[in-house]
Amino acid sequence: QATNEELEERIRAIKEEMGDRLFMPTHHYQKDEVAQFADIMGDSLQLARISRDNKKAEHIVFNGVHFMAETADILTDDDQTVYLPDLNAGCSMADMADIDQAVLGYERLTARLGEGILPVTYVNSTAAIKSFVGEKGGSCVTSGNAKKVIQWALEQERRILFLPDQHLGRNTAYDLGVPLEHMAVWDPIHKKLEYEGDDEDLRIILWKGHCSVHEKFFPAHIDQIRKKKPDVNVLVHPECTFEVVQKADYSGSTKYIIDMLKDAPAGSKWAIGTEMNLVSRLKDTYTHLEVESLNPIMCPCLTMNRIDLPHLAWCLDKIVQGDRANIIKVDERTAHYSKVSLERMLSIV
Ligand code: 13P
Ligand code: SF4
Repeated sequence: QATNEELEERIRAIKEEMGDRLFMPTHHYQKDEVAQFADIMGDSLQLARISRDNKKAEHIVFNGVHFMAETADILTDDDQTVYLPDLNAGCSMADMADIDQAVLGYERLTARLGEGILPVTYVNSTAAIKSFVGEKGGSCVTSGNAKKVIQWALEQERRILFLPDQHLGRNTAYDLGVPLEHMAVWDPIHKKLEYEGDDEDLRIILWKGHCSVHEKFFPAHIDQIRKKKPDVNVLVHPECTFEVVQKADYSGSTKYIIDMLKDAPAGSKWAIGTEMNLVSRLKDTYTHLEVESLNPIMCPCLTMNRIDLPHLAWCLDKIVQGDRANIIKVDERTAHYSKVSLERMLSIV
């Protein structure tokens, strides 16, 4: 079995040999051992844009999770191939909205509330969901542009079905002035609308999905840290629950979190509510700040963490050998309408 040094050496050599023909976009949650080889690091929005704009690379090795690689495939040209170093690197939130459930849910909601519900989906969703949304006139959204896209959706004066992350949907709509009483939750398992108000008042239906990593941050963590450090800044990802986001000082995408620390005054204290690889990197990078995880038991995204040195080296070796392994290819029809929903998002922001 190869040592880490040998694997690193191999990856470096392949990168050098392939030059611009190989491109490795890498999400901020990736482990350092993978991140060191990134051609570019970013949040989902940046990575979607960068993949769309890269016309040089024949081979795009995506260090992230499955939906991100699918998005890259949808947005790149036909002669560019996208790979995911481990096909098991999925996203548990994206898996919470299956296309059959979405079609059925939409039908039931239409039967109850009338035609014209506008579906909007977080990019953390399958290509099939993005395609469904695109075909119905809706848009994708990321945590980096959620406000602008949901504002656009509200201006369409239609009811919105927001998939699959109830928390991002609720947090953003609330910020834009939609009262909680005008939001409902669609439970796809029990096929039930959780809502006690008058149907006439309903503006946003939130799909009952969540991120298993961000749900591990609780309001009690904020109380504890503020007790210990009264001047701490609490900065969380908007996939955290409504209660956590309301209690925090700031919330935003991974890029927003990084930008906040870049500009922070020396000595300031930060408790971060997001995935642990990013929190550790922030701690190591901004040594003039006091950075810690909001949850003292650091929260990993287990699927992101599946991408490691052995998988990356193996994937690159296969490309060099001309072996078509671990390719992410969205079928033509699904790609057509999912591109519509992604491009709608990119045209709004
Ligand atoms: P960002 O788009 O903010 O990087 O978030 C992606 C993600 O999966 C967060 O859990
Ligand atoms: Fe999915 Fe949560 Fe992991 Fe992000 S952190 S990729 S939403 S499981």
